[in-house]
Amino acid sequence: MWRNRDLIDLTEFTRKDVETLFKQADLFLETRLAPNKMLEGKIMASAFFEPSTRTRLSFESAMHRLGGSVIGFSSAEGTSVEKGESIEDTVRMLDNYCDVIVMRHREDGVMQRLAQLAKNPLINAGEGQSRHPTQALIDLYTIFKEKGMLEGLNYGVMGDVKHARAARDFIRGLSLFGVREVNLITPRELMPEEVFVKDLNARGVRLNHYERVEDVIGMLDVLYVVRLQVERFRDRSEAEALRGSYSISLKTLERAKRGLRILHPLPRVWELSSEVDGTPYAAYFKQVSYSIPVRMAVLSLILTDIERVQEGLI
Ligand code: NCD
Repeated sequence: MWRNRDLIDLTEFTRKDVETLFKQADLFLETRLAPNKMLEGKIMASAFFEPSTRTRLSFESAMHRLGGSVIGFSSAEGTSVEKGESIEDTVRMLDNYCDVIVMRHREDGVMQRLAQLAKNPLINAGEGQSRHPTQALIDLYTIFKEKGMLEGLNYGVMGDVKHARAARDFIRGLSLFGVREVNLITPRELMPEEVFVKDLNARGVRLNHYERVEDVIGMLDVLYVVRLQVERFRDRSEAEALRGSYSISLKTLERAKRGLRILHPLPRVWELSSEVDGTPYAAYFKQVSYSIPVRMAVLSLILTDIERVQEGLI
């Protein structure tokens, strides 16, 4: 059940929860995202302490489409955090002004701590280098729409799996659907740390490692690409040395299956050539278009009794 829950860690949700969300997103798609008064009178606080374009704007757009309203800020600049206010106090304050808080922050582990303070649901819109659950829901939904299923497919994840929260939560999301194996395609320096690998193993997912995409491309059904997270390197020259160390072009796709679908949470930089955009492999713009129905589904399931209505419980 979604009602009144925080959405911080995707692994606290079940496959059934995610399928309920898919159904709700389908309903919004069927009505072509027509304005809907479901959340009239509700207020969403959008608290972004880290840069964001698509996540913040798509959450805000989703809330508006549901008839709700939005308050918030898009950087710490101009807030009392600049005067030295703690994030805890900022959340206590926001909690009084709204019905749901959507937050992005650079510190890993911050969301769990803040959720204990807030009486309203807290939605994680990107946390450090570890988590980005709503992006993962969009990614899973995109595969479901493209392929009709999530299990039984061969997955590749290419790029900075060490620092990219989108890639990491995508893999965690796959684990909910019983996916047993994911192929990581990345230079050794960008492999995730042991704790992450062990956690996935404990969830039944084996992570294989390839340095060259050519060695694995021919067997993939889904390839998830992420950019090098330059801003998360302490030493920028290390990031500079890895620039261009992995990429997808028409040439790399020569041996791909016809049904291969490429996803990317965006923004992209140099890792995915725009020459791929016009091919049937490219699913990343569809993925963007699903961000609105999926985030509408998240907000409506958390803020209303719609799930209970759907299940005939009321
Ligand atoms: C991602 C993020 O912020 O983690 N962006 C997004 O939300 N679509 C991916 C990224 O910045 O690489």
